[in-house]
Amino acid sequence: MTREREKLQYTSLEDKHHNRAVEPVKGEQNTAYWDVKALLNEQGEGETINVHVQETSLDSRAKKESAAREAALADLQAAAACLRQGKTVAFPTETVYGLGADARSTEAVEAVFAAKGRPSDNPLIVHIAHRDQLHELVTEVNAAAEALMAAFWPGPLTLVLPVRPGAVSPRVTAGLDTVAVRMPDHPVALPLIAAAACPVAAPSANRSGRPSPTLAAHVREDLDGRIGGIVDGGPTGVGVESTVVQAGDDGTVTILRPGGITAEQLSAVAARVATDPALLAEGSGGDSASPAPRSPGMKYTHYAPAGALCVVEGPPAAVAAWTRAALAEAAQRGERTAVLAFAEHAEQYRADAVFSLGNASELQEAARRLYAALRSCDEQGATYIVAEACSREGLGAAVMNRLLKAAGNQLIQVD
Ligand code: TXA
Ligand code: MG
Repeated sequence: MTREREKLQYTSLEDKHHNRAVEPVKGEQNTAYWDVKALLNEQGEGETINVHVQETSLDSRAKKESAAREAALADLQAAAACLRQGKTVAFPTETVYGLGADARSTEAVEAVFAAKGRPSDNPLIVHIAHRDQLHELVTEVNAAAEALMAAFWPGPLTLVLPVRPGAVSPRVTAGLDTVAVRMPDHPVALPLIAAAACPVAAPSANRSGRPSPTLAAHVREDLDGRIGGIVDGGPTGVGVESTVVQAGDDGTVTILRPGGITAEQLSAVAARVATDPALLAEGSGGDSASPAPRSPGMKYTHYAPAGALCVVEGPPAAVAAWTRAALAEAAQRGERTAVLAFAEHAEQYRADAVFSLGNASELQEAARRLYAALRSCDEQGATYIVAEACSREGLGAAVMNRLLKAAGNQLIQVD
């Protein structure tokens, strides 16, 4: 047994109390790093060749590209071998980077909890590369769940299904009789999971409580020295995590966590779409008497920057006026200020750091930029941060959910 492994086992043995955060391991592992961005290049694309000289240079470029792809594929095999050996490997998905481990191995899954410092009552999502892998994991897939998978897999949708006893480590499901499963839509994640030849449990690859990583550099910041390796596949696309749903036998699809697939998209496929009542209580003056969320992860404060963050909602002009005044007052108190604003307003704010979330009418950009902006607030040492609210329609439901979590539910309504 390696020293790192001993250390991890020791740490997990300490976690006798259910619900208690597992003590994070000290940074003692040698974290491997594989750059596989060459796999993202479209193969066989190139301009039409009609001059001999160009042909030669294109030919050598094509050779270089194909050699880079070969090297990246070999790296992917090395990363898959790590997963098979029970190590933890961070990898890109279309939503955020995940920290993967063989879902069947309790030791491997415990290493994930330990590296993240994640509370042990928060279950993990299991990632698969093929539909064939699903029946090994779950006992039943009803018609509503089938329809969702047909419409949105591979993609940012996670389904909570009845777990097949013994299929995954009980640490993955945190003792629940269900397992959350997703098939990511990513040219690195899918071949990696397929090559690992096991179901891959993967929470977001951040230290617990920190914003989820949308770049390999974010994973390094949080987990270097604590995990087996990092597969760098460049920036993720969606930027917020998958939507977690449960599909009832009556055809009702309940959103347990808003994410990359919107309620509107689900409505096009499902008979009825509902939202977990615990989520609706958030950001509407919901208090501690709110019901417990059915997705255990939703009860934790997440993504929170070190500074105090509040979210301001209301008519755009009122939001801008309140924000300008609040930033000025905070600066007077000697705070280091930051603001997360939509492009329409970003230029008019005076703060130590101004982050644009893109246009308020194109929330894909806000989703893509949100976590990096929250991380930058910490880098800039911001102590007082204001974020403009966005519409809660479409992807806005996920963006507002994450913003409010980051703000510890500090929502200011102005009119
Ligand atoms: O996009 C994503 O979903 C990313 C990438 C890496 O795939 N993963 C991710 O995992 O966000 P994580 O662990 O950070 O979030 C998993 C969420 C938590 O809110 C957890 O409580 C919920 O899924 N969950 C997992 N298993 C569940 C279950 N059996 N029932 C209800 N909720 C479950
Ligand atoms: Mg997470």
